[in-house]
Amino acid sequence: MEIKSGIYPVGAIDWDRRLFDELIPLPDGTSYNAYLIRGSERAALIDTVDPGMSEVLIDNLKKLNVSKLDYVIANHAEQDHSGSLPAILNIYPEARVVATPKCKSMLMDLLLIPEDKFNPVDDGETISLGDKTIRFIHAPWVHWPETMFTYLEEDKILFTCDFLGSHLATSDLFVTDEATVYEAAKRYYAEIMMPFRTAIKKNLEKIKDLEIELIAPSHGPAYDKPDFILDAYRDWISDEVKNEVVIPYISMHGSTKKMVDYLVGALMERGVTVKQFNLSDTDIGKLAIALVDAATIVIGSPTVLAGPHPNVIYAAYLANALRPKVKFASIIGSYGWGGRMVEQLTGLIPNLKVEVLEPVVIKGIPEKEDFQALDRLAEEILNKHRECNIPER
Ligand code: FEO
Repeated sequence: MEIKSGIYPVGAIDWDRRLFDELIPLPDGTSYNAYLIRGSERAALIDTVDPGMSEVLIDNLKKLNVSKLDYVIANHAEQDHSGSLPAILNIYPEARVVATPKCKSMLMDLLLIPEDKFNPVDDGETISLGDKTIRFIHAPWVHWPETMFTYLEEDKILFTCDFLGSHLATSDLFVTDEATVYEAAKRYYAEIMMPFRTAIKKNLEKIKDLEIELIAPSHGPAYDKPDFILDAYRDWISDEVKNEVVIPYISMHGSTKKMVDYLVGALMERGVTVKQFNLSDTDIGKLAIALVDAATIVIGSPTVLAGPHPNVIYAAYLANALRPKVKFASIIGSYGWGGRMVEQLTGLIPNLKVEVLEPVVIKGIPEKEDFQALDRLAEEILNKHRECNIPER
């Protein structure tokens, strides 16, 4: 297969992987895309693959009769793209590792690659492969500090590594099923890129005048209609939120569940979209996706050992780390005899720049006045959304 003349996908599809970083669910597997570029005078490999799949990359290069590599371009130091560098350098000892100075330093630390193997590049620097010219665009913090893009000038292809990618194992080289890729790319954004929304804005601005015919990330299919993914990212990183409330919750004996169900109904009656997640068995990726657009998060928890349920603590900690653009937050739940659930939960989400709406925390099973308090909370959420001019259905 060729992406364009002289440009070959040589990476690996990981159909079976179900967890990334021992944290992120991968319901659809993933791929570690690497690309061979054959110029008239020199050859370059863009990124490698996860070390567990080095043999796939090496076999693909052998099938293409690659006897010499001049450059291995490391757009990102994380091991799912750099982890096969030692194996590649073993087979192609003449290859120079091209990376940002920061990436060079990280690869020396993470993979013990000797300093004399590197050819560090400045932002905007180019390397000629003969009839093909590669330009390097420093793009820090998508999602590590050392990341860069590689732009192939004559073919107008932007290689973005993690950025704009999707955890999706597919035999399609390019996007065919847009709905499936949209969901996978949004999950990827939510779990990995969302904390770096400000850096993404800067990096999108940096490439806005670039002529791009193809975007080739290092996870998931490539984009032969670049605006499909660029428009999606512009939407996700915008400051606009939607008329949506996300409710992650746990209920031990049913009281908190009654409150959640009531609040969901009260919000639905008011035309607010609600996404509810029972944290005793939830795909944390779906929760992250819901947080991309939502205006409000309401956390539901019982009180356990004087604090929130540990599953709720985990979800709140994760939401705080992902830094979604939510504007409002509240807490609901039931307790048996006391505790400091509200204080502990609000203390866990300092990164969320939210206005905290009056929590509804009750003793025991909810009664009439408790449901009235939930109605008041639903009304306040609606009014806050209206004050922010969030479009309603
Ligand atoms: Fe796909 Fe940040 O590694």
